Amino acid sequence: MIIAPSLLAANFGRFASEAKRAERSKAEWLHLDIMDGHFVPNLSFGPEVVRIVRPAARKMEFDVHLMCSKPEILLEPFAKAGADRMTIHVELGEWANDLIWQIKKLGKKVGIAINPPTQVGLVEPFLKQVDLVLVMTVNPGFGGQSFIHECVPKIQQVAEWRREMNLNYRIEVDGGITFQTAVECAKAGADTFVSGTGLFGQPSLRVAVEKMRRLVTAAAPPGIFKFEAPMVAPIVR
Ligand code: DX5
Ligand code: ZN
Repeated sequence: MIIAPSLLAANFGRFASEAKRAERSKAEWLHLDIMDGHFVPNLSFGPEVVRIVRPAARKMEFDVHLMCSKPEILLEPFAKAGADRMTIHVELGEWANDLIWQIKKLGKKVGIAINPPTQVGLVEPFLKQVDLVLVMTVNPGFGGQSFIHECVPKIQQVAEWRREMNLNYRIEVDGGITFQTAVECAKAGADTFVSGTGLFGQPSLRVAVEKMRRLVTAAAPPGIFKFEAPMVAPIVR
């Protein structure tokens, strides 16, 4: 189970020390929400912020969520700035396929995200190519919104496909994730939990991350960790 605090809910006046705080909380990933004012009605921050924050949280995996209409212009800058993985949206249409390969070419892990109103079937053609499926549980653009319970069946569907096709992508949830809603998502098959206000809003980030991890681990359906089996080592010639 991976907990990914979202920097969007941190103090924007001191990103680096907030990232350090996230690292000290023992959260594995730092979620970085990139908003372009077009794909979503808000702006957040760009590659320069990611570059500045990177040394403050060296041990964390940087999970860049691109809520952008033209992610192609940002992939290389974010890769250079220190992203470990980048997620693009399925709502971009056929172009998503090209973007997935561009991200892979940069040597980064790749995710495909799906918004609440979008039919889950649209992610199916991409499942064999991605490392992660991000099921949005709010309409993206702002932190602090309420969890949309109607998205839970999508998590179940994506988990079912993973079992049926014997794939190993992660299932990430993002939006309105609190201790309660994280448990609901874990029961449905999620294994990666993005939380902004649900974690940064707690008196101690470290205690909150520990608590969320404990709760979702206990709620996970049996067999969920199967996909974490070590991969066969590549043949070295
Ligand atoms: C929503 C972003 C989320 C956001 C979540 O547009 O994609 O990652 O930071 O914030 P909370 O957890 O506060 O809903
Ligand atoms: Zn996000």
